[in-house]
Amino acid sequence: MGKGKKRGRSEPGSTIQPRNKYSDNPPDFASLASLYPSFKPFVFFSGGRARIDWTDYNATRELTRILLLHDHGVNWWIPDGQLCPTVPNRSNYINWINDLLSSEIIQSFGCGDETKVKGFDIGTGANCIYPLLGASLFRWTFVASDFTAVALEWAEKNVKSNLHISDLIEIRDSKVVPHFLEVENRESDKIILEEDDSKSSMGPAVLLGVVKENEMFDFCMSNPPFFETFEEAGLNPKTSCGGTPEEMVCNGGEQAFVTRIIEDSTVLRQRFRWYTSMLGKKATLKLLISKLWEVGVTVVKTTEFVQGQTSRWGIAWSFMPTARKIIAPPVAIKSVLSFMLEGIKRQYSALDVLQSVEEFFKCCGASCKLNSSTFSVDIVASNDQCNTISKNGTRDLDSVRSHGNDKQSLDGSSLQVPQDNLSFRILVFQQIPGSLLIKGSLQQKDSPLSGLFSVVFGSLEESMKSKFCR
Ligand SMILES: C[S@@+](CC[C@H](N)C(=O)[O-])C[C@H]1O[C@@H](n2cnc3c(N)ncnc32)[C@H](O)[C@@H]1O
Repeated sequence: MGKGKKRGRSEPGSTIQPRNKYSDNPPDFASLASLYPSFKPFVFFSGGRARIDWTDYNATRELTRILLLHDHGVNWWIPDGQLCPTVPNRSNYINWINDLLSSEIIQSFGCGDETKVKGFDIGTGANCIYPLLGASLFRWTFVASDFTAVALEWAEKNVKSNLHISDLIEIRDSKVVPHFLEVENRESDKIILEEDDSKSSMGPAVLLGVVKENEMFDFCMSNPPFFETFEEAGLNPKTSCGGTPEEMVCNGGEQAFVTRIIEDSTVLRQRFRWYTSMLGKKATLKLLISKLWEVGVTVVKTTEFVQGQTSRWGIAWSFMPTARKIIAPPVAIKSVLSFMLEGIKRQYSALDVLQSVEEFFKCCGASCKLNSSTFSVDIVASNDQCNTISKNGTRDLDSVRSHGNDKQSLDGSSLQVPQDNLSFRILVFQQIPGSLLIKGSLQQKDSPLSGLFSVVFGSLEESMKSKFCR
């Protein structure tokens, strides 16, 4: 992993993951320096505040070591040059997975001990950071894979130097296993896995062949090599986190790596409740969301992790049946709703807003038909999609599949609307310069989901205002 989208300068501890303990409490370098003499030489005062030099690898590594020790009771080290994780950043992803597991969006396995969470960390690195955090924070158990000798050796060392959690983490080599193909065995009528020689140039296995027969997991996670070349990975002049080519680079970059997780997930399906990955580029997120719907997942969830100046994205999907249902509230239903967008930032036109309305609903899996001559978008959303839209509003682009309900009209004809869907039209009207009126009108008032219209429209309002208004 390496550089992501850069943001305006903020403190290294700032984050949007609310349960991350560092979100409101960035590490206090002065107090840590007084507690840990080994950290003291890396701390200096400037502008009345204690700081460290983020471009000094030894400083960032020592900070990670003492944060893991101080906040998590974890002993930890990595050899020179290996990717050094920042603890607040990695805590974001672990906390998001914890949120997913407690969300009840999808059904549980319904067998065995539901309180024991089992995770799979693809590419754990020498630092083994996710299993160490997951085990120490939540007592999750892990299989943690990697393929380089140095990662396997040091991940094992890091686990063994923490006796209180070492039983919870198994390090597994993914190098030695061949790639597999799903093949139909005509005699037994079953799907079997066969070695796939054609993919041998693609590197070590990801999940298929590493996951053992009959193993089930609550989730998998991965912080994949983001880049296609080491040059692309470059060096961020503002930080020094190390990172070898094996850690930072793979054939096809993050898109190819996560596509392989998706491909493996189409074979393993419900043996994992959640498949997840971190991403370094928002563009990759969009491509993968389309791919996921193509392969028939039931749910897609995404989020943005903001840490200091850098953004990362999380993507999660599942083949489990969805569990959560909304019951439409018994309220008097208004069939026309509106809000004003005022003080619109200069660079945005009415068309940008219209397209953003379409994107807002599309990202939640709803069918949309944009008409740029009438400045309107026709939307059809299922119960689950309304639920996703109303629950997540501005930040997450979440999607829940609507079963057997592909309504996207490509030929300009009207959308087919099954009775149990919510169908509405959003119109954008130009008012005085810098102001737009957004109007929503319900198309089928007798739908059982009509009561959700105001909630869904409220979510749209929240999202559009935060995006377009000063
Ligand atoms: C960006 S590093 C992430 C390390 C650690 N998880 C972290 O977040 O700091 C990616 C890791 O994936 C490993 N890797 C690459 N391809 C892999 C594969 N097919 N199976 C397992 N690990 C792999 C690399 O060796 C490297 O350690």
